[in-house]
Amino acid sequence: MNEIKEAFWLSHQIVQMEIHAPDIADKRKAGQFVVLMTDERGERIPLTIVDSDVKKGTITIIFQVVGKTTTCLADMKKGDCLFSVLGPLGKPTEIENFGNVVCVGGGVGIGVIYPIARALKDAGNEVTSIIGARTKDILILESEMRAASNRLLVATDDGSYGFHGFVSQVLQSLIDEGERIDRVFAIGPVPMMRVICTVTRPFDIKTIVSLNPIMVDATGMCGACRVAVGGETKLACVDGPEFDGHQVDFDLLTDRLRMYYFQEKEAVESYRCRCNGK
Ligand SMILES: Cc1cc2nc3c(=O)[nH]c(=O)nc-3n(C[C@H](O)[C@H](O)[C@H](O)COP(=O)(O)OP(=O)(O)OC[C@H]3O[C@@H](n4cnc5c(N)ncnc54)[C@H](O)[C@@H]3O)c2cc1C
Ligand code: FES
Repeated sequence: MNEIKEAFWLSHQIVQMEIHAPDIADKRKAGQFVVLMTDERGERIPLTIVDSDVKKGTITIIFQVVGKTTTCLADMKKGDCLFSVLGPLGKPTEIENFGNVVCVGGGVGIGVIYPIARALKDAGNEVTSIIGARTKDILILESEMRAASNRLLVATDDGSYGFHGFVSQVLQSLIDEGERIDRVFAIGPVPMMRVICTVTRPFDIKTIVSLNPIMVDATGMCGACRVAVGGETKLACVDGPEFDGHQVDFDLLTDRLRMYYFQEKEAVESYRCRCNGK
């Protein structure tokens, strides 16, 4: 059992939570994730470890409420206990001094890229971060990302804050202006990561993306998280979640994410009905 030490909404759909998990806090590295269960009969969901506090023995997660389990998790309060938290899982991000790096985060992906930007800056890279959201109200971690970067650029789809448009357009402008970019890290919705790869491919800028397929055991046994990278089948839970974006089959990833769409819809609707009936 893992106690929730803190829980609050960052925006109307995104929650930040601090969870007691001292062993994980001690060992985790940027890019790794946990698999948690809210209760004994719940499903196992993967969430990135955004931060940790070794002294307090806590890890921080940031998640978007999209379906049954994230709704149920968001309903939990400070002092409640999660049934289990397993981790740290996945390969850590490859952190080196690459030179000039650009970290692109979209939506809740900003939470996932934050520890990576911080680790890259600590390793001596010149970090430019580009973060974006549909609108200003749902943009998260702006001050944290500013501190984790040498330069922060912001975009909103509706122009309510920063550049009016997509993060990919901001990246394209940097390239068009002739900036030297040694590596790009892009994390966010699948269409965003795909477009970022389209922008960087002609310039041969290595681009790392973090894939989010459905996971079940997260230990390489079930095959649920299989993705195709460079024509080979990889398991995102043990071989990833980060891969060379230019090699990723995004069509397959998109199809596999939609596989349980109707069951997922039904599950969240019946959960909400049960809660409202209480
Ligand atoms: C390694 C890894 C790290 C992740 N880190 C984070 C994180 O830090 N914060 C965060 O908010 N989410 C993260 N995710 C995604 C998160 O695991 C899913 O959003 C969650 O499992 C959805 O569970 P649910 O029961 O609430 O929704 P479901 O009922 O399972 O799904 C509801 C809707 O969300 C979509 N969906 C389901 N699974 C995923 C998925 N894996 N990625 C994107 N959309 C999905 C479905 O297509 C459906 O439309 C991560 C995924 C992986 C694989
Ligand atoms: S989630 Fe089962 S093999 Fe990756």
